[in-house]
Amino acid sequence: MNSDVVQLVGESRDQAVEELCDFLRIPSVSADSAFKPDMQRCAKFVRKAMLKAGLTSEIIPTPGHPVVYGERIESGDLPTVLIYGHYDVQPPDPLDEWTTPAFEPQVRDGKIYARGATDDKGQLFTHIKSIEAWANTVKTLPVNIKFLVEGEEEVGSDNLDRFLGDNRERLKADVAVISDTSQYGDGIPAITYGLRGIIAAEVNLQGPSRDLHSGIFGGSIANPANAIAAMCGSLVDATGRIQIPGFYDDIQPVSNAEREQFAQLPFSEDSFLADVGSSDLFGEDGWTTLERRWIRPSCDINGIESGYTGEGPKTIVPAWAKAKITCRMVPGQNPDTILDSLEQFLSSQCHAGLTFKFSRFHGCPAFVLDPTSKWMTAASTAVEAAFGNPPVFIREGGSIPVVMSFKQILDVDTLLLGWGRNSDNLHSPDEHLHLEDFHNGILASAMLWDALSGVAHG
Ligand code: BES
Ligand code: MN
Ligand code: MN
Repeated sequence: MNSDVVQLVGESRDQAVEELCDFLRIPSVSADSAFKPDMQRCAKFVRKAMLKAGLTSEIIPTPGHPVVYGERIESGDLPTVLIYGHYDVQPPDPLDEWTTPAFEPQVRDGKIYARGATDDKGQLFTHIKSIEAWANTVKTLPVNIKFLVEGEEEVGSDNLDRFLGDNRERLKADVAVISDTSQYGDGIPAITYGLRGIIAAEVNLQGPSRDLHSGIFGGSIANPANAIAAMCGSLVDATGRIQIPGFYDDIQPVSNAEREQFAQLPFSEDSFLADVGSSDLFGEDGWTTLERRWIRPSCDINGIESGYTGEGPKTIVPAWAKAKITCRMVPGQNPDTILDSLEQFLSSQCHAGLTFKFSRFHGCPAFVLDPTSKWMTAASTAVEAAFGNPPVFIREGGSIPVVMSFKQILDVDTLLLGWGRNSDNLHSPDEHLHLEDFHNGILASAMLWDALSGVAHG
């Protein structure tokens, strides 16, 4: 590894943190149209950062939020790496649970606090900074870089497949790199070789044309709140088993050898519970906590809304009710099939006097990659050199839709190299990134280009 690059990365630490803060100050919330101008501003920030790092860069509009694409092609003889990240973030709500405001980044106790600090601005920024360090020292990179940063990951990457399909030639690469997952634990970096898929839907029940007096009318007409509660309650039984007919039918079995590897990973139920602030575990019988999170599907109600929830009582039969539902899926399960079964299962429970509406949001299938590939092995050396410990090979429960799209549309496999931690409060109040992880991430990224360069391509 070139020592000038390592030295420059070390000398630029404070500068990198300052620039990350500028990135984090832009409230790039993709879900909420009120932030549309900030999304544009954020895309421009990414473009400028790419240019400063010695990449070409352009902002490409989509029907939704723009994509930012950058390149640095050194030579046809070198492997080409496609880096992906997302500049959009989750909504900051609930606002009053943040110690300091979500879009006013602050460094406390060696961590940088802000929405997007770890998911995914801080992580994607490590790659920009490492490329910049190579460009400003060695002057040429040991790999060709193609850098794709989208603004719609947190809302399901709906417009990305189209972009990939339209730009197949341009995006051609030997391997993809994404830093949008987590380390396994404190001091234990990880390379993730599998993620769960996801389906998301919303159910709306319409009852009477307006809220009604529950004394005058209660008991004589269908109550949408009662009905949505019953529907939601029917999804998972008391043993954690999902009740949607056929839900488990297509799941591919997981080998005992792989389950054995998971069992070898250090895991403390007590510290897991302390981390999430829960008093006990709950989940499908017969599976460990790691298995429930990584290789078994789940079904969660993300929110229910109906009737009066303010202070004190109010005696009504609400006019409507709605619920948002997601299922995490594992390899073998087909998102469209699961959505069909979910819709059928819920609509069959809808009784007279209620109108049932089922809306589908984003979805993507689960996947598993080959953990013994030459790319994974090369990446492992870089991660170990930067973080001081060898990475463990794990699967994760979250979803990143683009990984399957890269495989299906571009025929390229992805390296999931996460520098963050699951305890970084991603999607929660007080999201943060350890500065140590940020700096080690830049270093690992800088070393990664060297390591991947050594892997024969073609
Ligand atoms: N970075 C996360 C996914 C993630 C986090 C995977 C930690 C593994 C470990 C990503 O930004 C995310 O939140 N994805 C969504 C996908 C959805 C909106 C399609 C998710 O998993 O809920
Ligand atoms: Mn992410
Ligand atoms: Mn996310």
